[in-house]
This record gives sequence, structure tokens and C-alpha cells, in this order.
Amino acid sequence: MAAPIYSPGLEGVIAGETAISTVEGGLVYRGYSIEDLAEHATFEEVAHLLLHGELPSERELAAFRGRLNESADTPQALVELLAKIPAGVPMMDVMRTAASALAHWDPDAADNSHAANLRKSEHLLAQLPIVMAARYRLAHGKRPVAYDSKLSLAGNILWMLFEKAPSARLAKAMDVSLILYAEHEFNASTFAARVVCSTLSDVHSSITAAIGALKGPLHGGANEAVMGVLMEVGTAQKAEAWIRNALSQKRRIMGFGHRVYKTGDPRAAYLRTLCRELAAETGHEDMEAMADTIETIVQSEKGLPPNLDWPSARLYYYMGLEVDLYTPLFVLSRVVGWSAHVIEQLDNNRLIRPRARYTGPAPRKWLHIKNR
Ligand code: ACO
Repeated sequence: MAAPIYSPGLEGVIAGETAISTVEGGLVYRGYSIEDLAEHATFEEVAHLLLHGELPSERELAAFRGRLNESADTPQALVELLAKIPAGVPMMDVMRTAASALAHWDPDAADNSHAANLRKSEHLLAQLPIVMAARYRLAHGKRPVAYDSKLSLAGNILWMLFEKAPSARLAKAMDVSLILYAEHEFNASTFAARVVCSTLSDVHSSITAAIGALKGPLHGGANEAVMGVLMEVGTAQKAEAWIRNALSQKRRIMGFGHRVYKTGDPRAAYLRTLCRELAAETGHEDMEAMADTIETIVQSEKGLPPNLDWPSARLYYYMGLEVDLYTPLFVLSRVVGWSAHVIEQLDNNRLIRPRARYTGPAPRKWLHIKNR
């Protein structure tokens, strides 16, 4: 057996095989570049591609949408539970609870067959937006709004939050952001999901763990933290002084850097244009100018390009969404990637159980408690 490899944070380690996506030469979902998908596909088509392996035909897409519509329901008991969660609990924590709770009403919860795992994944894809919107509205003293089967998933997210049909531009911006967030190889949350199901646990447990992993500010939580940065800076005029001071204090600037993309995150590059267009349309040019200044200086001083969370936070802000929803929106999209990985792992499972390098004390003699 070869000598074990040690790489802190598993950096650079190939920890498994996947046919779902690659970050080699840009981000590619099952052979299709994210640029092509964001330009031409809908989120539903991308979800079908990731879960079922191929882009759908018209008939397959209609059937897929039909299944999502059938699953787009939340048990009344869960809505009551959502209403009882204390006010002020972050939406990410509510999403984690909901992903776990939804298992109790899923007849397939304990069935780990390929077909059942696909069904459960589709249920979660349809149910999680309903849960998020219901909790949001209950927390604002409003009644939940029912899912509209005539709208897309992206359109439904906005409809169920605001009870207002979204403009085509807003629905498209949401759709593109869902496409870009949907899948990203062996990132921390996906790996967490794979570790959980590799013990022959189930889809809901894996997704619950993944949501817990996504929440951290070094991962998905960064899109909310980015907004904290932009709010702290305040105006474009203050941006240069703010960022130079932050860098001199060795602050970690949220939305910059990436474990894998060292020369640029293709998703951030793609979203930039859409972000600018929406800023112009909603009168947020000053925030774009602020972001540009910060981006230029972080790049020239630290050589760090922005990651997807940098433009995403602004995109959501221009869409009028509360910051507490940003990472949960990431969940509504990435649930597709997580599910695809859980299915792939369970179809060809090997328990994920690495080793650790021991750094504790050398062997010691037992001491009776009276002699310690
Ligand atoms: N701001 C300032 N400095 C940074 C940043 C940053 N955002 N990111 C990395 N660095 C610096 C580190 O301080 C370190 O500098 P040093 O060598 O002088 O000590 C060097 O770059 C390497 O940093 P590491 O943390 O070792 O790089 P790693 O590959 O582990 O980090 C990570 C990747 C965690 C994403 C990091 O860049 C980061 O913390 N970014 C901010 C959080 C963020 O935006 N996360 C979103 C990730 S993408 C996503 O989830 C969609």
C-alpha cells in the first residue's frame, strides 16, 4: 500500500470520482459549460441534466415539471412548526430543520433505491422553496402564498415570497443565479453530503448535513457576509480607503478567493454583466462602482479574484431580497447538486473514512485518579 498522503484541508486531494461536473477548464455540468447553460437553458432543464444525466426532451421536461408541481406541497404540520420556530432564527437554520423534518412526511424516506432517491430529490427541490417562502411570510406576519404551477421554480420563489408576479427580467436573473449555484464538484457541503450517505444513511440526512456545511461564511454563508462588507463600506467614494484599510489589517474580504479557482471563478465572471444590467435598471449604480473599486484593489494588492458570492449578493440585493435569504437561495439551487452526488455515491458506494495524522502525546502510563 502506498504511503498515505497528508494535505491540510484535503487541498488538492482527489477524494473520489464523479460524472456530474468538473472544474477543469471552467465549470462544466455533465459536459455542458455553465456559460452555455446560463445563456440557453432554464433551471429546470439544468436540474434534469444533473439529476437524470441528460438535458430533457420537451416531453421529458413537461413530465419533470409535472412531477415537481405534484411535489409542490408542504404538510400543514410543518407549516405550523415553521410558525413556532422563535422569531429571529436565521433562515439557514430554519432550512436545516426543514430538510430534516420533511423526511417525516416522505413515504420513501428510508428507501435507498436509485428510483426512490430520485423521487426524494425531486420532492426536496419542489418543497424547499415553499418552506423558505412560508417561513419568510409567517415571520413577517403574512399568510403563506401557494405555489403557482404555471410559473417556473425561479418565478415561484419570487411569487411565494412577495405575492407578486415577477417581471421577466427578475425571473430570468433568479433563474441564472440558480443555474450557476446548482453544482460544484467536491466542495465542502457536497462532500459532507457524500460522507453522510456513504454510511448508507439517507437523502434527507445527507441534505441536512450539507445545509449545515453550506452555512459557514467560508462557503455559502459568504454571500450574506458580502452584503455586510458592502453595507459597511457605504458609498463608492469611501470604497478605496475602506478596502486599503481592511487589507492592511489583514481582514478576510468575503466574496474573494477560492480553494480551486486561483485565476478567477467563471461563475462570477458570467454574473457580472447581469448584475450591472440589474443595477442600472434598479438605480444601484453606486453600489456597482463601490464593488468595482474593491474588486480592482483586492485583485491588484492580493491577486485574489472574486468568487460567485461577490456578484450574487448584489444581484439579490437589487432584486429586493432580504440578506437573510441569500444563503437559503443557494440551498434551493444546490440541493440539485447535492442530490445528484448522493445518488451517485449510493449507486457505487464505498464508505468514506480517511485517516488522521496523530499529533497527541506519546504513549503514557495509566495513573490512578488519586495520583493525577
Ligand atoms: N480576503 C483576504 N485574503 C484572503 C482571502 C480573502 N477573501 N482569501 C484568501 N486570502 C489569503 C489568505 O489570508 C492567505 O494569505 P497568506 O498566505 O498571506 O496567509 C492566502 O490568501 C491563502 O488563503 P487560504 O485561506 O489558505 O486559501 P483557501 O484555499 O483555504 O481559501 C477560501 C479559500 C476559504 C474561499 C478563502 O479564499 C476565503 O476565506 N474567502 C472568503 C470567503 C468566501 O468568499 N467564500 C466563498 C467561497 S465560494 C462559494 O462558496 C460559492
